[in-house]
Amino acid sequence: MSSFPKRVFSGVQPTGNLHLGNYLGAIRKFVALQKESDCIYCVVDLHAITQSIDVWGGAEGLMRSTREVTAAFIASGIDPKKHIVFNQSRVPQHAELAWIFNCVARMGWLNRMTQFKEKAGKDRENASVGLFAYPTLMAADILVYRGTHVPVGDDQKQHLELARDIAQKFNNDFSDRIAKLGLGVEMAVGDTTVNGYFPLTEPVIEGEATRVMSLRDGLKKMSKSDPSDLSRINLTDDADTIARKIRKAKTDIEPLPSEAKGLEARPEADNLVGIYAALADMSRDAVVSEFAGKQFSVFKPALADLAVEKLAPIAGEMRRLMADPGHIDAILKDGGERAGAIAEKTMADVRDILGMLR
Ligand code: AMP
Ligand code: TRP
Repeated sequence: MSSFPKRVFSGVQPTGNLHLGNYLGAIRKFVALQKESDCIYCVVDLHAITQSIDVWGGAEGLMRSTREVTAAFIASGIDPKKHIVFNQSRVPQHAELAWIFNCVARMGWLNRMTQFKEKAGKDRENASVGLFAYPTLMAADILVYRGTHVPVGDDQKQHLELARDIAQKFNNDFSDRIAKLGLGVEMAVGDTTVNGYFPLTEPVIEGEATRVMSLRDGLKKMSKSDPSDLSRINLTDDADTIARKIRKAKTDIEPLPSEAKGLEARPEADNLVGIYAALADMSRDAVVSEFAGKQFSVFKPALADLAVEKLAPIAGEMRRLMADPGHIDAILKDGGERAGAIAEKTMADVRDILGMLR
């Protein structure tokens, strides 16, 4: 058990097309964690600009998507008064700590990041420096609040391991200074206890939908950037669109098995059952035992009804919130002020630890 106070942090990029994978893999967990912990949820606009401007849509696109992600947080049930919701660039301490982490992290560590390889594609020479350094900014996002728990989808696991490596190297490199200033905190790591300034953050990757796949290809992740809109259910889709996308989702011709084991090697079937399970708060096993031996012509309409029941109210509430951008901006401003106060305390310590005179 860490002796850092439990603090949840997570972020979502404002790059348009928020989808069911974002909701089930991340946002829904953000909502659940509010009951037990202090939570900080961030719209990571500095991360969005690491990709090509066509992806994030320039200034107009960024403003719109930042408000849309904020609206999705609130429509899903995040309470911005009890917790903190803000956009990353409002708190410049994220970028400041990221620079320091650029000097802690090693090239070799970042060279292993699979997300960089995927996003940069073949033309690596033309990727932004920011895309390469993306994970050090992500570590700074979490650690500037000394965040202990980070709910994310499965694709972010490697980045969170890197955040732990950075925290550990920082704690080791500056251990004497941290002790001299009395800034160390005891924490349990495995069977031993170590002392450090930054916690070794725990990923929270659990449930039946940590990796929601494309509706058109069960081997590809559902993603904001897939050119086919049929590949994903957007959080803003209306009921008819949701039902149509599920009807058109790729499947095999077998009926549903009676045990979850029978979904192995059937990626499309596994994905639809996983989505059903997550939306209904059931296990995959419970879902297949309910639909054992049934054809997709029976399962898909049931899934569509469930998805509409759970998602349509969120879409409606998002539309209502988006109609009043001033209200959203006020939430972000208030959250940014509260986040900034915490982040500045951390940075003041970090500057002292490094010997930066003020
Ligand atoms: P992003 O859209 O990349 O900012 O992702 C925001 C959050 O959604 C992160 O926690 C991701 O891990 C999660 N996420 C994105 N795509 C998926 C997916 N297909 N399945 C599950 N989680 C996802
Ligand atoms: N990299 C995350 C994603 O693409 C977004 C993110 C940025 C994040 N900073 C974070 C997630 C800090 C968790 C914690 O999904």
